[in-house]
Amino acid sequence: MALACALALAIAAGARSGVPAMSAAARLGDDSGGDDWAGFGRTYGEQHYSPLAEINRDTVGKLGLAWSLDLPENNPIAAPVAIGGILYVASGYTKVSAIDPVQGRVLWSYDAHVADQPAAKIKMRNGWGIRGLAWWDGRLFVGTQDGRLVALDAASGREMWSAMTVGADDVRFISGPPRVFDGKVIIGHGGADIGATRGYVTAYDTATGKQLWRFYTVPGNPADGFEDETQRRIAKTWTGEWWKFGGGGTAWNAFAYDPETDIVFVGTGNGGPWNQKIRSPGGGDNLFLCSIVALDAKTGRYKWHYQVNPGETWDYNAAMDIQFADLVIDGKPRKVLMQAPKNGFFYVIDRITGKLISAEPFAKVTWASRIDPVTGRPVETPGARYPNGSTFEMWPSPEGAHNWLPMAFSPETRLVYIPTLEMGATYSDAGIDLKNWHWVPGGINDNGVKVAITPDRIGQSALLAWDPVRQRAAWRVPTAGLWSGGAMATAGGLVFQGQVDGKFLAYDARDGRRLWSFAAGAAVQAPPISYRAGGQQYITVLSGTGSSGAMFGGPAAKFGWEARSQPRRILTFRLGGTATVPAAPQPYRPVANADPDYRPDPQQTAAGMIVYHQQCHICHGVGAVAAGIAPDLRASLVPQSAEAFDAIVRQGGLMERGMPSFGQLSEAQVMAIRQYLRSRARDLAEGRP
Ligand code: HEC
Repeated sequence: MALACALALAIAAGARSGVPAMSAAARLGDDSGGDDWAGFGRTYGEQHYSPLAEINRDTVGKLGLAWSLDLPENNPIAAPVAIGGILYVASGYTKVSAIDPVQGRVLWSYDAHVADQPAAKIKMRNGWGIRGLAWWDGRLFVGTQDGRLVALDAASGREMWSAMTVGADDVRFISGPPRVFDGKVIIGHGGADIGATRGYVTAYDTATGKQLWRFYTVPGNPADGFEDETQRRIAKTWTGEWWKFGGGGTAWNAFAYDPETDIVFVGTGNGGPWNQKIRSPGGGDNLFLCSIVALDAKTGRYKWHYQVNPGETWDYNAAMDIQFADLVIDGKPRKVLMQAPKNGFFYVIDRITGKLISAEPFAKVTWASRIDPVTGRPVETPGARYPNGSTFEMWPSPEGAHNWLPMAFSPETRLVYIPTLEMGATYSDAGIDLKNWHWVPGGINDNGVKVAITPDRIGQSALLAWDPVRQRAAWRVPTAGLWSGGAMATAGGLVFQGQVDGKFLAYDARDGRRLWSFAAGAAVQAPPISYRAGGQQYITVLSGTGSSGAMFGGPAAKFGWEARSQPRRILTFRLGGTATVPAAPQPYRPVANADPDYRPDPQQTAAGMIVYHQQCHICHGVGAVAAGIAPDLRASLVPQSAEAFDAIVRQGGLMERGMPSFGQLSEAQVMAIRQYLRSRARDLAEGRP
């Protein structure tokens, strides 16, 4: 009787909030029940794996679109979450909506009004949209580009609290998904590529937004005193006056939580600036750059770390997703974590002790020959650190052999499905004044090294199925373009992944055979999720180009997506779904406008080309060849008018629509960019690439 009563109460409470009463800890810790997708990688261990099997190898042929909803703005690259049969979607500059997935009906929407925040002027420039959101006991958590961590009531979308996690006038910004554990929400930030940034992660109380602890990923200025013994110790791995440069090590994406050990794992990013000769001129490992750091989840205290790139100098982040697996290695069951960081090696690490189990290249790697199994350190190729100015052709490029779009692990096939990027580059600091290099505040920065992508090598990618025990490929299928979508594996024996060419695909997880394909009418890059609602299995993915890879406009432009006219959508699938999306628009081919006043000025053009490639190409594309996230400026009329150009570029006339403001650029610089763009328009008109 008492039990029945308690049950009835629990059900009533659940009914009120629309969510059956099951704690967040239970949902995030439950790897076997597939009803929810409660966090970025579904559960604490971030496998991007759904235990649902209604959609499987035999039934996937009947998988169809249940409904779609148009998204109004750019950057639909986030993974949604789904809890208790309600779907929560974040996109662009932190717009969130709750949706009934059975009806495809929006229940509420929230807008963090990022463009209205004064800080957004600087922080929006990096070009990234939001990548995901978190949920804990009836609350959603999202980061904003201007650096807020916001808690929303999941039932109403009402803001419960907001914490400013960064300095108002620094370059730190948030694009990565927060993670939650034990009533705490953790968030890092980006910014190490843009200005003096000392990386840190901060944990807040999910109920109140109160800061609980902060952990710095790199040491500060010794003159200010170290926060603790760990900071004092890691400072010994730095040389020179690193603190003046910030140091970097930002945790902009990857976290995982192990409830068994109460450890939160943090994946850290590159050095700031990239070039170690500037940042730490006497060398050193530069802890904790490019590392997986294990912290006590209660206190944020350091437990252990594994550094994938000691003394990194190539932007080889270890901020790629960290995934757990229980594997049998050499006959012994091991609790491991796995990571495929940018540097091209696949790492299997004991997640209890932090000991390296194995590391082998999963892609073409030339910067190192191997990872020494005893020391756990890479054996670098002589010349990789550009000792005499430049390198040989380095693989991977700074885009990585794998970037932030998550891999997936299937406990059935025991394979990891990695969206890989295949591109080489040379690094050179010849001609850069290393002694006097400094960050230009709010402005033009080159990270102390020039990177040249080998042009004929741009744009290869693959979905790679990797056996983490044998450390070798099981299968590999080429995918369209350079940046393919995040992966999801399911108990139905399937792997789902989108492509920039507009296909959303399902593969047989065993052998990579293509079993299903959907013409999305738009690029699909976001990570898919799967969950149950109304008793049925659903799959949701966002479509539309996002900031990933837009830089390499040339190759991506061949798919013909245009920034303003392309559709951006939430796509939701179920067995028997019969909804349709309009066919893709005609592929966009930019046409230059005649510019009667244009007079070639090679000097201005050359100057403009440099500023353009420091400030604009991340969204508008290398060589002003756009790839769909921002307009192709060779086809724009705006550069023909000095006033119109200034109103948009320096005064921020299109901030609301995702075009940042560049008030710090001088009139001369802006004029030079204009001249460069007009010369590129002339190139286009006259058929030059
Ligand atoms: C963070 C991404 C981003 C960066 C960086 C960026 N832009 Fe933009 N830009 C956009 C977007 C998005 C739009 C389109 C907004 C809209 O839909 O109206 C745009 C629009 C424009 C337009 C208007 C074009 C037209 O035909 O209406 C101009 C001009 C422009 N940008 C110039 C620049 C210049 C110059 C730079 C570098 C100094 C730059 N942008 C950097 C995202 C960016």
